[in-house]
Amino acid sequence: MLVGGARLGKVVVGGARLGTVVVGGARLGTVVVFEEVSPLITSCLDGYSVCILAYGQTGSGKTYSMEGTPSDPGINQRALRLLLSKVGERSNSWEHQLSVSMVEIYNESLRDLLDSSSNTPLDIKMAPGGAGELYVPGLMQRNVQCMQDINKILELGHKQRATEQTNVNSHSSRSHALLILTAKGRETSTGICTTGKLYLVDLAGSERVSRSGAAGERLREAQCINRSLSALGDVFSALRSDQAYVPYRNSKLTYLLQEPLSRDGKALLLLQVSPTEKNASESLCSLRFGDRVRAVELGAPARRIEPPPLREQTETESLTGRGARNTSLRKRPINSGRLRIGLQ
Ligand SMILES: Nc1ncnc2c1ncn2[C@@H]1O[C@H](COP(=O)(O)OP(=O)(O)O)[C@@H](O)[C@H]1O
Ligand SMILES: [Mg+2]
Repeated sequence: MLVGGARLGKVVVGGARLGTVVVGGARLGTVVVFEEVSPLITSCLDGYSVCILAYGQTGSGKTYSMEGTPSDPGINQRALRLLLSKVGERSNSWEHQLSVSMVEIYNESLRDLLDSSSNTPLDIKMAPGGAGELYVPGLMQRNVQCMQDINKILELGHKQRATEQTNVNSHSSRSHALLILTAKGRETSTGICTTGKLYLVDLAGSERVSRSGAAGERLREAQCINRSLSALGDVFSALRSDQAYVPYRNSKLTYLLQEPLSRDGKALLLLQVSPTEKNASESLCSLRFGDRVRAVELGAPARRIEPPPLREQTETESLTGRGARNTSLRKRPINSGRLRIGLQ
């Protein structure tokens, strides 16, 4: 366990592939947290599937960490800005295309936050082709090329999330919000293509809702949240005990996050803890959850790489028999030594 930045009230628990950053005690600027998570974020440009989840009770600062404020932007905006600048830095050897989707999961129903014309719930489906990839038919994907694009997308997503109910804060704390970035890359010298994904997740409040007090719609919401957060816990415990079957399909949340939460992915839990004493018991529950999560080892993460089309095949790939039509090297570990890659 690594304990750092005590004066900021920050504890970093890490070491395994699935790291946990605990934020609490004092008001901690997002910039400090962002430093911890930025290497994970940029690895999506190399073809990794990455996910950062903000977990904690309502009021512990999840939305502050992910969305932030105009004076202290959150991880969502900082991540997109960082990726844009990295894409610029690599532009002499790589071409990258970034696109963003934003969805909300409320009462187990998936809603597109970038499509203001439709309120139809979305589905998660298995892509044809048998590679086990998931996709969401009809989900809006917006290309991001400059800061203006980022601002427009985040503003629209925020507005769409807020329009659902009059009580904005309580609604947002009862739904999960996901920003999904897809980074497609092509190394210009070899033609090798990568597809990386970044999932930034502002989870619904983890507090236990007293059964006696909740009724009607409120009870249904509480049940849906409990079920999906338990499903998340179940996925972690299946991974921790290295079970062959991991129950991703038990909730929309875990199904959607199947790729980054698989043994090939990279995930980090941002554990938000309220600094006030009256929340101590919920904070303890959150810390216990974090403690269980940090025991998870996801294994060696793998990049999603596709070889160049046949005419651009490099000598190494021809020799290994890779690069033939439709051959997908999805999830081949970087250290498998079977593909030569330009960037680590
Ligand atoms: N690090 C921080 N610095 C300053 N204010 C914060 C910080 N974290 C949370 N807050 C404030 O605390 C309140 C609750 O935070 P919020 O992000 O809405 O919690 P949650 O999303 O977990 O319900 C908000 O008013 C938010 O602005
Ligand atoms: Mg919130």
